[in-house]
Amino acid sequence: MINAIKNYFQIDGASQVDWKKFAYPKRFYNALKYVHYRKSMPVEAPYYPLTVMLEVSTFCNFKCPACERELYKKDVASTGGLFKENVKLEEIKRLSALLPYVYSVYLVAGLGEPFINKDFWPIVSFLKSFDVKIGYFTNASLLDEEKIAETFRRRINTVLISMDTHERSKYEMVKEGADFDHTVSMIKLFADYKKRFSSTHPFHLGLNYIFRADNYADILPYLDFVKELGVEYVHCSSLIVHVDETRDFSFFKVPVEKKTKVFEEARKKAASLGIGLRLPNLEIDRNTRCCYPWHGISVFKGGDVATCPYFRTNRDFYYHVERDSGLIEDKRFVKNTVIGNYLKENILDIWNNERIKQIRRGELKLEPHASPCDACYYKFLLH
Ligand SMILES: C[S@@+](CC[C@H](N)C(=O)[O-])C[C@H]1O[C@@H](n2cnc3c(N)ncnc32)[C@H](O)[C@@H]1O
Ligand code: SF4
Ligand code: SF4
Repeated sequence: MINAIKNYFQIDGASQVDWKKFAYPKRFYNALKYVHYRKSMPVEAPYYPLTVMLEVSTFCNFKCPACERELYKKDVASTGGLFKENVKLEEIKRLSALLPYVYSVYLVAGLGEPFINKDFWPIVSFLKSFDVKIGYFTNASLLDEEKIAETFRRRINTVLISMDTHERSKYEMVKEGADFDHTVSMIKLFADYKKRFSSTHPFHLGLNYIFRADNYADILPYLDFVKELGVEYVHCSSLIVHVDETRDFSFFKVPVEKKTKVFEEARKKAASLGIGLRLPNLEIDRNTRCCYPWHGISVFKGGDVATCPYFRTNRDFYYHVERDSGLIEDKRFVKNTVIGNYLKENILDIWNNERIKQIRRGELKLEPHASPCDACYYKFLLH
């Protein structure tokens, strides 16, 4: 029942809701308004975002061939090359006016590895002073027992480790720079800490799994592997093709019947093993409206605020969903989803400014083709 409510309102993906976080008047009434307007999707949203995806570093110690970083290495004309920045605590403090309303903050790191930023723990402490739910994504390479212990001492609520297969050589190819044994030992240690220390606060350990043409069937044996490691849930989405070189790995290259069969088996298997599993869509539903413009914001280095955690700059997209013809493979230029900059403007004003209203109108089909989200394949499929 709780899961049905949570899924309906699109709170928290595959991890569990921490209801205690709503015990503050500003946050409680904000969430109540969000729930009230969830169905009507107004152009002017009379509440503040429920969640913030926060980038803390654009430095990384890996060279994953499919990562968005590859795009910026080449796209020097529009971005000036690969971003290289650690976000400073002083910058994050400029979000203070918004944080009493926000339920969760995810240190998804955008383009980098969070632990490269020396301000990582001070940023966590600052966010914790607002008692928001906190989670982070990591490639696990910089984890050690001290950081895992600190994660529990700081009462972080979710950790998602990126691991897209249980096969050693494939994993080390997809996550270039990774050491399979180290990742596995860190996952086990997290599971062990969860058993010993999580009675103090809700903590959920998940793995992030990106479906590609060369790993989609791995999900079945992967679930056994995950169970053995003590992981609670697997959050799956699919490959975004950022650069030409990864087009052949697109999940679209796999026939839908094959994917459907694997997904059915994976659902059954996860249920029997007691593992939470979140799978992306396989069919295009033309009524799909992306929830991001009504649900949360993504905040990047340099202060850019976007509706979308994935498409932060102008670029070519490699796939599109057209109203009449469905999915088409075509390289077309699409604009970014940036709505403002919180280091230059008041963060509270950005949420209902003209740019986000235009994106919302696009999603509601009140103003077709006005929004970069108009033909986004990712919202219809994959995510
Ligand atoms: C960009 S990374 C940043 C955090 C950290 N460096 C990591 O890899 O976990 C965040 C997530 O995006 C995923 N990712 C990377 N490239 C992707 C792509 N082309 N399409 C979809 N997800 C991707 C990663 O696997 C990871 O789970
Ligand atoms: S570890 Fe994460 S940020 Fe680094 S290259 Fe890989 S996907 Fe990109
Ligand atoms: S529709 Fe696509 S580009 Fe727009 S916010 Fe959603 S996922 Fe991002």
